[in-house]
Amino acid sequence: MADGAVNFLLEKLTTILVQKASLLGEAQGEIDEIKLELESMRSFLRDAERRKERSESVETWVRQVREVAYEIEDIVDEFLHHKERCWHGDGLKGFVQGVVNLPKDMTARHQISSKLQKLKAKVHEVSERSKRYGFDEINEGRRLGAACDRWGELPIFADEDELVGMEENTQKMLEWLEEDEPHRTIFSIVGMGGLGKTTLVTKVYEKVKRDFDCWAWISVSQTDGSGELLRSMIKEFLEIKQVMVPSNLGSMNYMQLVRMLIDYLHPKRYVVVLDDVWSIDLWSQIRGVFPNNRNGSRIILTTRNENVAASVGIGNQIHRLQPLQDTDAWALFCKKAFWNDLGRSCPKELEPLARAIMKKCEGLPLAIVAVGGLMCSRNKTVAEWKKVYESINWQLSHNPMLEQVKSILLLSFNDLPFYLKHCFLYCCIFPDGYPIKRKKLIRLWVAEGFITERKGMTMEEIAEEYLTELIFRSMVQVTETNDEGRVKTCRVHDLMRELAMTTSEKEDFCTASDGREQD
Ligand SMILES: Nc1ncnc2c1ncn2[C@@H]1O[C@H](COP(=O)(O)OP(=O)(O)O)[C@@H](O)[C@H]1O
Ligand SMILES: [Mg+2]
Repeated sequence: MADGAVNFLLEKLTTILVQKASLLGEAQGEIDEIKLELESMRSFLRDAERRKERSESVETWVRQVREVAYEIEDIVDEFLHHKERCWHGDGLKGFVQGVVNLPKDMTARHQISSKLQKLKAKVHEVSERSKRYGFDEINEGRRLGAACDRWGELPIFADEDELVGMEENTQKMLEWLEEDEPHRTIFSIVGMGGLGKTTLVTKVYEKVKRDFDCWAWISVSQTDGSGELLRSMIKEFLEIKQVMVPSNLGSMNYMQLVRMLIDYLHPKRYVVVLDDVWSIDLWSQIRGVFPNNRNGSRIILTTRNENVAASVGIGNQIHRLQPLQDTDAWALFCKKAFWNDLGRSCPKELEPLARAIMKKCEGLPLAIVAVGGLMCSRNKTVAEWKKVYESINWQLSHNPMLEQVKSILLLSFNDLPFYLKHCFLYCCIFPDGYPIKRKKLIRLWVAEGFITERKGMTMEEIAEEYLTELIFRSMVQVTETNDEGRVKTCRVHDLMRELAMTTSEKEDFCTASDGREQD
């Protein structure tokens, strides 16, 4: 699990060390040494963070770093508080007291200084331990490549009769694909993980691909960089036409691959799906291979990040996928939960509980399918269903049947830069279903010290940017806007919130006491 809490503390401490240098006086040297160690630990952590699987020893080490980081923060706070009270306390009175209380001041300083000494030794020891445990292991993991990182995102193809509520979107896309527009156009579908982007695109693509001269489907999150992506695309184009793939494809460089694709696509009417695009850079690296040949070619792109869709440029239509409506969500839940039963309908006595369980999924198909599947394996008794309903939060983090929901939702969380992780986790402290006010949230983030200063911008402006980023990444949903379309209130998807809370509790970042069950 990514370790935002530690990264954040390290960052904050470094800032204190820089900004309060004048107050640190004789402790500067010691703190500088601690800082150096912290920096080396941080780069190790960042490496570790990129890797999904971590061995137990590395996990233990991360926990130790976290403890030491909290300890350092306490001592530095104590030290600064002591210094500020002495020199700035109550003006002249404070200064005089500072001088008059010299023996007391000396004792305090001595105590803090010896704490710092001990801490320095501890930090050093923890830092050394990282060298003993982990670097090789972690580098090994990275070599296995980004392609493995997102296996949680492999598309799961559902039977046609298992799908619900897709008519309107399917229709809209078919019209776009078949319209007369000769220019190459792009359709971007945006929405959080598990919302049904891949499912929708699969359905439409399978229907129309043969109306085009050539077609390719690329799961972008499964490919490792633009070179590999271009190679997969070439392979796919050639294989559908049963043309031999050139034997030197593997050794072709980026420019050769681009050239080959342009030459191949230029005279054709093509359709390409780029499923699950995570980064803006990637699009800019590959956009050149799709010639605008006025043959009516089409590109479909799906992403969780609105920034990616917005960066696509001319000829792009953005479609924000919505959660399932209640009736569709209910129909899907019943299909899954009562799969074995005649008529696939819910017995009367279970209905209130079944609806309450379904509500937890908030129209997210991924969650409905998984939770429905979980309920299917349970006895259909009120007592049994009540038990599951009451422990649904626990189930989400621990039940292997819900592992996929967990991993897909956590991918988005893991992909956040650490400063956003903190802001996001903070949103999770608000009780379930509570509309979070933008202004209040921003003030709270600033007060918590989550915002990193930037020249020429106020803290509130930066915080506002953070919020926009979280919204764009589909991590936070807008619930109300004002007349100018500005966010007024927002919320976090309940399941995402549950997972983030479990993570943050594990990382000692925060615990919520909103009366919900403690697992
Ligand atoms: N409209 C739908 N009806 C039934 N099941 C759906 C629907 N949309 C998605 N699903 C199911 O939800 C899960 C996640 O969908 P997927 O398309 O992979 O989401 P995304 O690509 O947005 O992450 C899959 O198991 C899929 O079968
Ligand atoms: Mg997908």
